[in-house]
Amino acid sequence: MVSAARAHPNIALVKYWGKADDELIIPVAGSMSMTLDKFATTTQVELTTDADRFELNGTVADAKATGRTTAFLDLVRNLAAEAGLDTANAKANVISVNEGPTAAGMASSASGFAALATAAADAYGLKLSPKDLSRLARRGSGSASRSIIDRFAIWHAGTSDATSYAEAIDAPEMAMVSVTVNAAAKKVSSRDGMVATRQTSPYYQAWIDVTKTTLDEMVLACAAKDFTRVGEITETHAHRMHAVINATHPPIRYLAPVSWQVFDEVAAMREDGIEAYATADAGPNVVIICRPVDTDAVAARVAEYGQINTFAPGPGAHLVDTA
Ligand code: DP6
Repeated sequence: MVSAARAHPNIALVKYWGKADDELIIPVAGSMSMTLDKFATTTQVELTTDADRFELNGTVADAKATGRTTAFLDLVRNLAAEAGLDTANAKANVISVNEGPTAAGMASSASGFAALATAAADAYGLKLSPKDLSRLARRGSGSASRSIIDRFAIWHAGTSDATSYAEAIDAPEMAMVSVTVNAAAKKVSSRDGMVATRQTSPYYQAWIDVTKTTLDEMVLACAAKDFTRVGEITETHAHRMHAVINATHPPIRYLAPVSWQVFDEVAAMREDGIEAYATADAGPNVVIICRPVDTDAVAARVAEYGQINTFAPGPGAHLVDTA
């Protein structure tokens, strides 16, 4: 039994930052994202009687990554046991390839766990709906719940394992331009940064409250196909996330000086009539959203700040033929 799946990273317009349940990965608020059309992860899962094994980009993964993969496979085996499948005790050989440059910081855990969930569910013989696949991927990495979905996704926070999942949402036409800045930022993982923010940031409750109302506003702006509003909400929301993170003790700062220069350049573009808006995740790289027609103009304006990639909305996780 061997299955393979392909999934792409996603970039959130309304961010997920904070868990209500660390074990089940239930977020404190919902979020919304665009799935990218580049930098896919392709993952093959083959059932075996040996121990679990995880190979990433041609190398056997380290103990931490292997442990996280095994813990995820245990969830899949539990589902197989509940379904009465005789695969429930099988181990798995997982072979994964990331097309994205690892250093680009383009959410490889989202594409990784979305691809693993899709391939593993198939290999173990589970028949999961897109909703249940999203719930499963969520257990690996919260943002992976959204990479199951085509184009644009809304992750409903929910209050339980059963009610926390992503589904498709319609949004205005847009493109993304990523700027991988050349900055050696000190790395705090999203997982650790979220805990630190919850424990020490005095603005945490305000962040939770405003993220909920922001998601409601985003849903309305998407329904109205209002690109300008979507962009404005995205940029303000990104600043709010970095503000709540900056207020942790000891402080965590993901943005570098050059990141701020890109935000300033995006504001200057708007002055010049190019409608662009910026956001950034837990690192110094900046992602710009714009109308598809403006993609090349935006890319040219920020080329001096780092390595540029452009993206259109991409496909959700899906099975592929095993070669
Ligand atoms: C800033 O999904 O990587 O990119 O659930 O702990 O694995 P875990 O975190 P993860 O966090 C992503 C945080 C973010 C915002 C977002 O993608 O919504």
